[in-house]
Amino acid sequence: MELRSTHWFGRTGKDGFIYRAWMKNQGYPSHLFEGRPVIGICNTWSELTPCNGHFRELAQFIKNGIFEAGGFPVEFPVMSLGETLIKPTAMLYRNLASMDVEESIRANPVDGVVLMCGCDKTTPSLVMGACSVNIPTIVVSGGPMLTGKFRGKSIGTSDIWRFAQANKMGTMSNEEMQVSEASMCRSDGHCAVMGTASSMACMIESLGLSLPENAAIPAADSRRKALAYMSGKRIVEMVKEGLKLSDILTRDAFENAIVTNAAIGGSTNFVIHLTAIAGRIGIELNIEDYDRLSKSIPLIANLQPSGKYFMEDLYYAGGLPAVMKELKTLLHTKAITANGKTIGENVESSENYNEEVITAIDKPFNPIAGFVILKGNLCEHGAVLKPSAASPHLMQHKGKAVCFENIEDYKARIDDPALDVEADSVLVLKNVGPIGYPGMPEVGNMGLPKKLLEKGVTDMVRISDGRMSGTGFGTVVLHVSPEAAAGGTLALVQDGDTITLDVHNRVLQLEVADDELAKRRLAWKPTHLQVARGYVQLYQQHVQQAHLGADFDFLIGGSGSEVLRDSH
Ligand code: FES
Repeated sequence: MELRSTHWFGRTGKDGFIYRAWMKNQGYPSHLFEGRPVIGICNTWSELTPCNGHFRELAQFIKNGIFEAGGFPVEFPVMSLGETLIKPTAMLYRNLASMDVEESIRANPVDGVVLMCGCDKTTPSLVMGACSVNIPTIVVSGGPMLTGKFRGKSIGTSDIWRFAQANKMGTMSNEEMQVSEASMCRSDGHCAVMGTASSMACMIESLGLSLPENAAIPAADSRRKALAYMSGKRIVEMVKEGLKLSDILTRDAFENAIVTNAAIGGSTNFVIHLTAIAGRIGIELNIEDYDRLSKSIPLIANLQPSGKYFMEDLYYAGGLPAVMKELKTLLHTKAITANGKTIGENVESSENYNEEVITAIDKPFNPIAGFVILKGNLCEHGAVLKPSAASPHLMQHKGKAVCFENIEDYKARIDDPALDVEADSVLVLKNVGPIGYPGMPEVGNMGLPKKLLEKGVTDMVRISDGRMSGTGFGTVVLHVSPEAAAGGTLALVQDGDTITLDVHNRVLQLEVADDELAKRRLAWKPTHLQVARGYVQLYQQHVQQAHLGADFDFLIGGSGSEVLRDSH
């Protein structure tokens, strides 16, 4: 086995001196440079990414495992994307972070890498970047927070939407809102519900990119540290075995992830991130695959926002291995995983300890799960709807459009008593797509008009080219492609137009005659924010539409692990 790192540390003369000497200022003895696998620990620790705030301590356990296995750990930082703080949206920077990861891995003397992922975008950005290099890689997720506790009740991120509506209605004061903040976020870790971060952690485990149980062990549980330790040990073996990302990320692995995500009621963001990852590793995954593979999958994990419980409960009930064991007949059980065993072998001995949290596929919590991919003149390349988060009475719906040209327009008018809106109207939000916002923020589950909330309306059909938080819910049509800013039909919708949503037949149709649409298209001019410099300009010029994963067109595929040239 020839190690990549030998081309740095194995050299003699001036080059070898330079590669080793500066490293030694950190106290590393000479024998560490003598043929040990060098393992990069790609760390997204940041105080501005609070979900990953415990990663410095967690990294130490990975290092301990690497040392025990005879490797040489080297930790390095990459851009870290904190979902709650970054403006205008962390999604704007996912591709940038992935470039940082890709180039950092390739440019440095590492033989294998451990990706430390947690908050939403830190998972896809790291995996996308690593796929484009394709060396042995294992993921350690940071783990979910402990379940929030507020006034005798369990709470999690999905409650924010309920609290916000209660606050708007005057039934929850600002002071009560503030007390609930620390009650919800009371430990290390990422959002405790099956939001995007948890969906990403489950995606990692079902793809086979981590050790079993990685997805659900709470961040505050000591077994998270033990898993980090064991992952450190394992990556050294993976380097010796030459087990690369492309060996694990087969078509079967992607299909396993889609089936599993459906069964747990995972986030709609899963679609966009998994598609982008597939693009990097060279697996063809179409948006229709999500519908085809998930339509017969029932919901078997009872987790918020589609159900009742939290990630902590999932772990105590047996974790993702117990879920995947229930799904065994629907999975490609021979798919190989990071520990060298197959998915089938990994889940064989797992048990379901709580049937209120995990159930059998013939006794589901909800017979429908997964995603519906809609098509029609309003979304020629597709749009996504999550039926388990939607209202059954709105699945077949015809209503008049109430349009908002952008998010500012929506905010200015949604609570205006004069807004011409009824419970059966369809709220349409434009210019929140990848190009239009820019960055495709999580605003698709727009709050309902106050005057309808006061009448007791709890859900309406909402359509946009944006995304929705994995913790959100409602009859929300997302990721409309092509987006309004790219001249999609969404841009042409006018107040009062009739829109048909037919989930059963996968149709989203603007009931306007073709010649009228052609006239509107001729008169259409883009109105979205256009940026003339820097990264955001690059983003707007190169981001692909949602159905392609919103990756940059020039980042599709990979460049391998070869460096372009020697440094000196
Ligand atoms: Fe980080 Fe939810 S805000 S995972």
